[in-house]
Amino acid sequence: MADTAELPQLIEAARAARENAHAPYSKFKVGAAILGESGRIFAGCNVENAAYPQGQCAESSAIGAMVTAGDRRIRAIVVMGGEAGAEEICTPCGGCRQRIREFATPDTPIHICDPAGLRRTFSLETLLPESFGPTNLAF
Ligand code: THU
Repeated sequence: MADTAELPQLIEAARAARENAHAPYSKFKVGAAILGESGRIFAGCNVENAAYPQGQCAESSAIGAMVTAGDRRIRAIVVMGGEAGAEEICTPCGGCRQRIREFATPDTPIHICDPAGLRRTFSLETLLPESFGPTNLAF
């Protein structure tokens, strides 16, 4: 798994996005930042809804921003959730692991942060082994 030279910029983008999270129900703010193949950074936050199931994760928001801007590859992603030093780290939910999979490779780094900084780095393969993806459909 390659190092992410842009990690500091990704962390700052995720931090800024997290500040804008709309999480009045869970109070759990999350920000995500993606390094796309163009070298641009795309950020997103969780957007909850009074109709709870309609809420959206930060990773989904960031992927939407990336695709809207025309990039199609995730070179690295930062997820920043919860509070500094919390016991549990904020790894992506199962649905978001699959959403990341669509635009990533097995060794794509997923950097898990809290507001104090980097906690752990996983490859996509570690978080979503034996996954189903575009190649299963021959795309
Ligand atoms: N959430 C994310 O945005 N990303 C994650 O990786 C985990 C969970 C959000 C969904 C919901 O708005 C809140 O965090 C609590 O689950």
